[in-house]
Amino acid sequence: MESLQINEAQLFDLRCSLDCTISSDKRRQHILRVEKCAVELGRIFLPREIIKLQVAALLHDITKELPFEEQIRIAEEYGVPFSENERMCPKIFHARTAALIIPRKYPQFADPDIISAVAKHTTGDVSFSTFEKIIFLADFMEEGRTYEICRAVREDFFEHLPRDEDDLPDYLDQTVLKVLDATILILVREKSYIAEQTFHCRNHLLVKTSI
Ligand SMILES: [Fe+2]
Repeated sequence: MESLQINEAQLFDLRCSLDCTISSDKRRQHILRVEKCAVELGRIFLPREIIKLQVAALLHDITKELPFEEQIRIAEEYGVPFSENERMCPKIFHARTAALIIPRKYPQFADPDIISAVAKHTTGDVSFSTFEKIIFLADFMEEGRTYEICRAVREDFFEHLPRDEDDLPDYLDQTVLKVLDATILILVREKSYIAEQTFHCRNHLLVKTSI
């Protein structure tokens, strides 16, 4: 799949279309704040990819309002059914189903970075690119998140941002690791099933950042 050129007008239209595709005002506002945070992070880590990051942010929750049964049906229709393990954590369904429908419903945004960032935004992945990490972090630390840990991660992130560009990749990994640890703790407290990709990504970054 070739990388697409996306212009400001397409981005504007996508933002406006949220009014029709997302019924919850709370979720629309969350999506717009994720977009804003993705821009903030993009300026630091991927300044040439900001428009694509905005599109990924705007699309990351497009199927979140669908019932779980409908999401199971979509995954089956596209030939990527959820495994027995995955069915134990339905909160992650929307990441796969959103990624699956992008090429058909939003062909103008069917870029591999956008699709994979949407697909991995709830769990993380051992092969987590900078682009994907930005969407993952933006979803967690957008300024409307009410969890104390989300606010703390956000404040800490901007307060201790390294001045040396060479330190930025490790700083990004450390922040993603912090978010994965926090997410795992929250899921344990809720007695929720934890997706194996989350553990694998967490352990991978733990080793990577300690070298
Ligand atoms: Fe989200």
